[in-house]
Formats: sequence, structure tokens, C-alpha cells
Amino acid sequence: MSVVADTIFPVRYEQLEELAKQKMAKEVFDYVQSGAGAEETLRANRQAFEQWKIVPRFLKDVSKLSTKVKVNGTEFDAPILLAPIGMQGIVHNEGELATARAAAKENLPFVASTVSSYSMEEVAAESSGDKWFQLYYPDDPDLLKSLVGRAERAGFSAIVVTVDTGMLGYRERDRSNGYSPFLLGKGGANYKGDSVFSERMNRSSSFLEEMKKVFYKPSLCWQDITYLRSITTLPIYLKGILSAEDARTAADSGIQGIVVSNHGGRQLDGCLASLDALSSIKKEVGDELTILFDSGIRRGSDIVKALALGADAVFVGRPYLYGLATDGESGVQSVLKQLKEDLFISLSLAGVASIKELDENWIQQA
Ligand SMILES: Cc1cc2nc3c(=O)[nH]c(=O)nc-3n(C[C@H](O)[C@H](O)[C@H](O)COP(=O)(O)O)c2cc1C
Repeated sequence: MSVVADTIFPVRYEQLEELAKQKMAKEVFDYVQSGAGAEETLRANRQAFEQWKIVPRFLKDVSKLSTKVKVNGTEFDAPILLAPIGMQGIVHNEGELATARAAAKENLPFVASTVSSYSMEEVAAESSGDKWFQLYYPDDPDLLKSLVGRAERAGFSAIVVTVDTGMLGYRERDRSNGYSPFLLGKGGANYKGDSVFSERMNRSSSFLEEMKKVFYKPSLCWQDITYLRSITTLPIYLKGILSAEDARTAADSGIQGIVVSNHGGRQLDGCLASLDALSSIKKEVGDELTILFDSGIRRGSDIVKALALGADAVFVGRPYLYGLATDGESGVQSVLKQLKEDLFISLSLAGVASIKELDENWIQQA
């Protein structure tokens, strides 16, 4: 256990969130914790986990259980990835640098956001761990090529295209607080150092005006994914898929996988819980695509449920960000260590001898 300002690092997620809250300005905490609209989807994500129950099997030899899995061709300590979270500098001055170091120490991949507080080259230089690049597909084909080329050269091993953010969700708490880290320019590091973006800047009056022009691409559609496929050899994952129909089109687009996600309830309020989308997607494309999952993972038993319903691995978001806010790199590492141990114990107690055998026979609706 690490000691955080006279306090033992919290074991319980609820305590960690409370401690992180004390470390952040109110508007920053609200930005991190909140969902869009009435937060119906934010709540649904958690309710869905509570509505599925694990059916354990006993008197099975689980003494050889390992949580190690191969994802995107590389073996990791556990089926856990650190979700792309933009602008981590708002919760800790070392931001993504600290997160990347912690992920590498725990042998888990870190997915760096397009709107990071540090550039992808700075993040890449910080740790030798496996890193993926999350792409907000820009509304400028030259900038697209430039960002993807930089990710390739910096050694990122996959591109994760977020498809659920053609525009920002209607986030009521942020609007009430009048707070937008985006408009404060907090996520600009990857743009500031970019040659294509710099050229645009030379022709423009303000950094933010240019950001606003290229950042959102409400016209993003399947042809753009086909185009991206043609300009990079990196594996591509689409983040934000919630229907079997979209998963089918994704599989037919020659990409590597999808992330079943509703962006942690931050985009379309009123949409279904990610967990409730998994099973039908697994049936549709389980044999063709790697299926990753996020939105609502807080504990090891949540990961067991997501894997049982068809995920190959999960992304974790807010938990590690609260670790970062609380105690920097060491806080992120504590969160990851706890999740790994909790997952190992939960799998063992469920009678899972090998992660490969975990399927929907292990789960039923409450
Ligand atoms: C503060 C914050 C910032 C985020 N920034 C991004 C981002 O830049 N790109 C992205 O694809 N997803 C972003 N997400 C969504 C996460 O990648 C992930 O989908 C979500 O946090 C998962 O839900 P969880 O927090 O319940 O684990 C962000 C989430 C939070 C909480």
C-alpha cells in the first residue's frame, strides 16, 4: 500500500473517487465524473453490471490460472487497457507521461488520446511500454495523414478511431459550470507541434479557431475508415460501436477490432449501456474481430462479466484517472495493481481455469 498525504491509498473505488474529488477544482471533477444530459446512460452503465450475475463453478483446479492475454499480437499481464483520456494535465501536471510510465510498469497498454496534454512523441519517449494512438479523425486529410504518420514513426502499435464524437455530447454539468478544457486549449499538444497544423495556423489568427475547424468531423462515415485503412499499415480499432449492424460493417471494412463503448456515458445520453450491447455484437463478429469493451468497469468482477459476454479485453477510464489525480504515476499504478489482483481472485473464485474458457455460460441475468 502506498501512503497518499497521510492516507492509505484507497482500496474502494468510491473512496478513491472521493479522495480525487478533494484534489480537484469542482469544475474539473465534474468534467471527469459527469455524463451527458440527465446522465441516464452513465447510470445505465453501472446498472447493467448489477443486472448480470456470475454463475461460479466449484471443485475445478484453478491453480494454473493466469490473467495474461494476447491483444493486438502482444502479451500483457491482464486483459486491461488504459482508455484514451484527453487533457490529463488538468488533473495532474505530469498527465499522460505519468500514466504511460505506470501502464508500462504494469505491462498493460496505454491508449493515448489525440487531445493529450503532452504530444504523442513526448508520451512515446517516456516509456517503452506498448502504446496505441486514439484518433479523433480530423476534418483535414493532410492533418489526418500527418497525425497517423507521426503515430507510426513514434512507435504506436494501433490506431483507435473514436466514432461516437462527431461533436461533443450535451454535457449539462460542464455547461452549468461554464467549463471546457478544450476551449481553454488544454488538449492542443498534438496539434501545436504538427507541421500541417502549423501551416494552417500561419494562415489563421488563432489556435483555437483552427482547432475548432479541424477537430470535429460530423461528416465522418464508413468511406473515411476505408480511406484510413488505405494510408496506414497499423491495425485499426473503432471505438464507440454499440450495434451488431455497425459491428458487421466494421468487420467488412478490413479493420482489426472494435471497442464496444458509449464513451463512459459522456456522448449520447439515453443510449444503451455498453454491457447490454456486447452479446449481440459477439454473436455477429466474434469470430472476425477483436472485441474490446469499456464504460463502467470499476472492479475485477466487472471485467469477468464483460469477458463472459464476449469482450477479449477491457478499457478502464475514470478509475485510473482518479489514481492519477490522487497520487500521480504511483496512484495510477496502485489502481492497476488492485484491478489485476481483484480480477485474478474473481476469476479463480468463479472457477475459471483459463481465461479462454470464460463465455456466456458463466453469466446470467439477475
Ligand atoms: C475525462 C475523460 C476524458 C476522455 N477523453 C477521451 C478522449 O480524448 N478520447 C476518447 O476516445 N475517449 C475519451 N474518454 C472516454 C474513455 O476513453 C472511455 O470510453 C470511458 O472513460 C470509459 O468509461 P469509464 O470511465 O466508466 O471506464 C474520456 C473519458 C473521460 C472520463
